[in-house]
Amino acid sequence: MENLVNLTTQDGVAVITINNPPVNALSPGVPEGLVAALDAAQKDASVRAVVIIGGGRTFIAGADIKELELAASGRGSGPPEFHGILKSIEDCAKPVVMAIHGTALGGGNEVAMAGHYRVAVADAQIGQPEVNLGIIPGAEGTQRLPRLVGVQAAVDLCVSGKPIRAPEALKLGLIDRVMEGDLLTGAIAFAREIADQGGHPRKTRELYDKLGSEFVDASIFVAWRDQARKMRRNMLAPLKAVDAIEAAVNLPFDEGCQRERELFAECIASDQARALIHAFFAERAVAKIPDVPKDTPVYNIRSVAIIGAGTMGGGIAMACANAGLSVLLKDLDRAAVDRGLAIIRKNYENSVKKGRFSQEIMDQRMALIDGQLTYDGFEKADLIIEAAFESMELKKRIFGEIDKIAKADCVLASNTSTLDIDEIAAATSRPGMVVGLHFFSPANVMRLVEIVRGKATAKPVLATALALAKKLGKVGVVVGNCRGFVGNRMMLPYMREAQLLVEEGATPEQVDRALTNFGMAMGIFAVDDMGGIDLAYRVRQEYKHLEKPGVRMPLVLEKLIHLGRYGQKTGAGWYRYDENRKPVSDPEVHALIEKTAQEGGVERRHISDEEIIERCIYIMINEGAKILDEGYATRAADVDVIYLTGYGFPAYRGGPMWYADTVGLKKVRDRIRDFRAQHGEWWEPSPLLNKLADEGETFAAWDAAREQAPALV
Ligand code: 3HC
Repeated sequence: MENLVNLTTQDGVAVITINNPPVNALSPGVPEGLVAALDAAQKDASVRAVVIIGGGRTFIAGADIKELELAASGRGSGPPEFHGILKSIEDCAKPVVMAIHGTALGGGNEVAMAGHYRVAVADAQIGQPEVNLGIIPGAEGTQRLPRLVGVQAAVDLCVSGKPIRAPEALKLGLIDRVMEGDLLTGAIAFAREIADQGGHPRKTRELYDKLGSEFVDASIFVAWRDQARKMRRNMLAPLKAVDAIEAAVNLPFDEGCQRERELFAECIASDQARALIHAFFAERAVAKIPDVPKDTPVYNIRSVAIIGAGTMGGGIAMACANAGLSVLLKDLDRAAVDRGLAIIRKNYENSVKKGRFSQEIMDQRMALIDGQLTYDGFEKADLIIEAAFESMELKKRIFGEIDKIAKADCVLASNTSTLDIDEIAAATSRPGMVVGLHFFSPANVMRLVEIVRGKATAKPVLATALALAKKLGKVGVVVGNCRGFVGNRMMLPYMREAQLLVEEGATPEQVDRALTNFGMAMGIFAVDDMGGIDLAYRVRQEYKHLEKPGVRMPLVLEKLIHLGRYGQKTGAGWYRYDENRKPVSDPEVHALIEKTAQEGGVERRHISDEEIIERCIYIMINEGAKILDEGYATRAADVDVIYLTGYGFPAYRGGPMWYADTVGLKKVRDRIRDFRAQHGEWWEPSPLLNKLADEGETFAAWDAAREQAPALV
């Protein structure tokens, strides 16, 4: 305990430092240590004020999520209880100043708000991100926050979960001063200032000015409940956060805290909290590769050269420039380069218009990107990313060329989404330096990068790819070199099943509605139309070899191609699009589907939404299980992260493999067996799924049992 919280005194100010690396979470021992240190400071007659600060890189990043995980799964002794520590801080007879750097998130901000004053360095981030874990602030935050910042801002912070920087926190009244220079020195000076002025403790719970009243705030709550339903579709916690803040307005402080506790308990016991906490740890686990130790050396990437200024190349260029890397963007002719640069400029201009960042930042980012037609400067690049057309012949030629130019320690990456990375690497004299970096479109927005590990990819190259993903603010997941890698390999049977469903009796609208009601960010037909039906068709052709006599393949897609209905870009695909790119139902497509079914001898029938979800999602789960069995993904949790960050799978369902666990693997497998009997061998259950279902196990337990997951094939 002594090590977790330290107490020193400097000129009449007690300095309490929390030392619980890496992020000073409120793990067992920290609240107790804080109470003990405060007690000692109170008793020390020489102490006139107290400063609480985080040691290391941050203030307090919140409650210990491992403890929350135990509570959510019904293990452990219930949710952590912070009332005692908050009361000790707020009731301290000497002024308590919270000195914030890094992050004050969740329970971290709640502890800060129990202090009498708060100061922070300018780049400190403060927020209540609990909704991202399926819970609400549970350490009296929903009661203190509106007292400091008002109801509107409090609901915004708790429903969006987005942190704010210190200057904005100052404007809102969440902190009292933004500090320049050394934080501790400034906080001690501030504490002394308060003590000199005879300043006494200012208890947040006794502030009422900004709370408004039941009557005045009613419309805010109505509006935010609507907003929460839209922003966080199907999610429980954001609505409960609004309820809790409403209690702050309608009830005395202690009763409001009691209400918050009840609402918190409801949330933490939910499947959504379990799934989101799983997602939190899964996202961090993917960075751990079994045979690539943490101390593996990495190449320092400062400059990137990209081949191909199209949609992918341009998006990757933006992602790199956003992270401060210099970029050379090469294409074959001037028009292609200019078009690429113009799109980048337009995207940045839109962001400036929307207030996401300033014109100055846009100018800095644009200045980092140089368009060109030659390989000039490629010899200095730390990383070369090929983002050319998806053709093996072309990619091999490009890799042969860059092999002759790149410096010895340059990482050579391909953005291929389907092609064999070993074959590409074999076109170079240094296959160890070659890796797949499969970005998702739009690459400047989407968080996922599949890092494709070839047979020869060297460990430092993998470690570098993971570090780069983090630097770009993305989530890198290492996958094996199979066709479609993990994400697209699972996508193909999903798309196929959706198309079969419409031929059997559903409509694209019904399938998409069922999927979005399930929580998918977009319906699969809307996705097809956005990405281009021609692309979906091309991908299907790639898998032509899987088609066997007796295995029915959907036929409508091909007919849409013949009609020139390529999706949004031609104004029509599965849907018709108005001038605002809004999809509308198209009777022509319905007629085409019916005719196709008739020609294929398919008797159309009523299809329930439940069947749509089972067939679309279970086929994906089965493919995921095959991928795990074959060793192309490290953990089931990795597959989840891929679908959560790259394919719009609802986070509150934890990803496809976690979702399968929550349904029960036996139930999923038995349904898959039914579908096997009805629809043929595409539905053959994977051996791993069969095994786990028979043993009454889960994918999560399978992950945990293989403490040291084997390296990928
Ligand atoms: N509890 C336990 N472990 C935590 C943690 C937390 N609150 N926050 C981070 N960690 C761990 C991570 O799991 C990771 O562990 P690992 O190295 O073993 O994988 C390590 O700390 C470093 O985390 P990151 O890799 O995420 O480090 P970054 O520097 O990229 O990000 C961060 C730091 C912004 C603090 C990020 O970790 C984060 O967002 N953490 C969660 C913050 C949060 O949600 N707080 C609210 C918790 S809920 C709560 O407080 C409830 C309360 O109302 C009662």
